[in-house]
Amino acid sequence: MISNNNGTTPTQPITIGRVAPDFTALTTQGPITLSQFRGKWVLLFSHPGDFTPVCTSEFIAFSQLYDEFINRNVQLIGISIDSNPAHLGWFVSILENSGITIPFPLIADRNAEVSTLYGMVNPDRIYETSVRDVFIIDPVQRIRSILAYPATNGRNMYELLRLIDALQVSTEYRVSTPANWMPGDPLIIPVPTTYDEVLKRINDPESLGLQCKDWYYCYKNYDDVVNQNNIPAQAPAPTPTQTPAPTTTPTTNSSSFTNIISATNTNTNTTTYSNKINNTSSVSSVKKTEFKKG
Ligand code: BEZ
Repeated sequence: MISNNNGTTPTQPITIGRVAPDFTALTTQGPITLSQFRGKWVLLFSHPGDFTPVCTSEFIAFSQLYDEFINRNVQLIGISIDSNPAHLGWFVSILENSGITIPFPLIADRNAEVSTLYGMVNPDRIYETSVRDVFIIDPVQRIRSILAYPATNGRNMYELLRLIDALQVSTEYRVSTPANWMPGDPLIIPVPTTYDEVLKRINDPESLGLQCKDWYYCYKNYDDVVNQNNIPAQAPAPTPTQTPAPTTTPTTNSSSFTNIISATNTNTNTTTYSNKINNTSSVSSVKKTEFKKG
């Protein structure tokens, strides 16, 4: 059932910027093909195994923040080497224990074909298991980010959302995001490429709407970038078979998202944790359409 759609074994490692290898695979929602999600961002994430505690906590956390991913035009796809019946049984157990229905597909990668295609199987491992990899794939199906976590430690969903927000704003506008950037924070403007521009940034950055620490290190307010849309991104050239992403209308504020992350940082006990999760319902209106999809 699972196949690499171009029928080849990849010889090149999966790295940021490369086209995400297409595949068809059996999931808890029936067969899926990666390329059916062109036009959306895809977060493909592996987990070591069903009926394990850290993985269970992650699936619950992904499900609780599902609307946040949908609002950002992100399709979640899980993957492990367990069988489809095992996945289905695990989902029933999660439903029974937590009342949560897992709303996204989970691939049954029995022969580790997709895992191998994406380089998730560490050759040093005795068994063919994946750990906790994350591949963020953009709407023209290029790999935009790769993260790896160990089996013992669950991922931070809020960091995944923050990274998606950062990738989306960088894709839509020709900007970068500094360390610890949060949606709504000032954005970094590309370095000048001519001597005249350098001098202008040194002598009169305000006339350019910039706050500069140095000629190569300038910020612009988030609202000025997003509302004026005056720094058009250099969109990656789609291949002939790739469909450009649909654009959506900007809508909301970003401060609520900051609250989610702040809540994460104050997470010291179970009560705070539940508050954080409860908080998410109040931010489900945080439509990341604010960052028009690139
Ligand atoms: C877990 O999800 O709890 C887990 C899975 C594999 C190894 C260690 C922990």
